[in-house]
Amino acid sequence: MHTNRLSVIDQCEILQLPKIHSRSGNITSLESMISLPFQIERIYYLYDVPGGENRGGHAHKNLHQLIVAASGSFDILLDDGTAKKLVTLNQPYFGLYIVPGIWRELLNFSSGSICLVLASEKYDENDYIRDYDQFKLIKNEDPSII
Ligand code: TYD
Repeated sequence: MHTNRLSVIDQCEILQLPKIHSRSGNITSLESMISLPFQIERIYYLYDVPGGENRGGHAHKNLHQLIVAASGSFDILLDDGTAKKLVTLNQPYFGLYIVPGIWRELLNFSSGSICLVLASEKYDENDYIRDYDQFKLIKNEDPSII
């Protein structure tokens, strides 16, 4: 999938995910291009995050992601180089869709929480921007790169 040029945090949105409810428990099922706006190429999940620990702290050049609090809760700080927004995820039937070119930090994990991530690309370290100053420079001076 191609980079979303000149991306801003307003393009990142909370999606309400399908929920199949029953007295014996609920199911949320996600299908590429139906319940989320990209083809799923990779799934990963973060767990056993120690209290007070932050994750993320990077941007992606091409990756689209849907982040779900499969269990527990955590906050995601979104930053497009100009504006910032703090989003709380605390229900497994809501997901945060993040477009490419957005700096994100994950923080305030509750004990035992699970952060499920559906991603549009396979793992590629070259897709990361891990230096915040470099991110700011690119967004402010040459945003067409990401
Ligand atoms: P990273 O994406 O930086 O983690 P986070 O954003 O949660 O802080 O990844 C941490 C390490 O794990 C890094 O060395 C790359 C590796 N990794 C993979 O090998 N495959 C993957 O799919 C992911 C997400 C990470």
